[in-house]
Amino acid sequence: MRQKIVAGNWKMNKTLQETEELIKALQSSYTTSNTEVIIAPTYVNLYRSQELLNSSKIKVAAQNMHFESTGAFTGEISAEMLQSIGVETVILGHSERRDVFFETDEIIAKKVRKALDQNMRVIFCFGEQLEERKSNAHFEVVSSQLKSVLSALSETDWDNVVLAYEPVWAIGTGETASPEQAQEMHKHVRNEISAMSSEAVASQISILYGGSVKPANAAGLFSKEDIDGGLIGGASLKADDFLAIVDAAE
Ligand code: PGA
Repeated sequence: MRQKIVAGNWKMNKTLQETEELIKALQSSYTTSNTEVIIAPTYVNLYRSQELLNSSKIKVAAQNMHFESTGAFTGEISAEMLQSIGVETVILGHSERRDVFFETDEIIAKKVRKALDQNMRVIFCFGEQLEERKSNAHFEVVSSQLKSVLSALSETDWDNVVLAYEPVWAIGTGETASPEQAQEMHKHVRNEISAMSSEAVASQISILYGGSVKPANAAGLFSKEDIDGGLIGGASLKADDFLAIVDAAE
């Protein structure tokens, strides 16, 4: 059985006090399920989040990291620093990192390599822009993003990789890919992973969908064969909505 995962990407939202409130609200209503639940607060609140969730089933992830361990990289955070506070999962390749902060496939590949070398788990994001879908290039674009970053992984690296298909036109826009559109792409991704590694890896890897997932559309998406949960932005900022999405993955 593939692991179902619902991860909340809080992006640049929530002060320390708001972070504590949201975590407490999540803890008071969350009942353990088979779905793995992850939250990714902003850097400045990771330590406190990790402290609050120390004995909880809810895990804490970082939204990004640098590929070097230490050095003159003003404003950056390393894998070792994340691990020193108990954070073992990192989101890499998010479209906002690509589009707003100009991260290329090459940079993302270095970050993924570093995280895997540190034995951290990576939630690797990819997805096409609206024009690419309109011109029917979406499969090709996604294949290229996967290959540029993942083609050199070893068999054991794959154990620490979770994939997140996030069509850029659906992120924060209120427009969601239909369950059929998402399923079609997830199947394509699984086939690509099979070609890059093995059928065993492809059948075991969790592929999440992200882009305007809400309590109202989550169950339809998660019922599809190749959709193993979601990476949730806006709807992860409210405990009730996020937990309703977690329930939909069951
Ligand atoms: P959204 O964001 O749910 O607000 O569309 C998803 C994401 O960017 O991970």
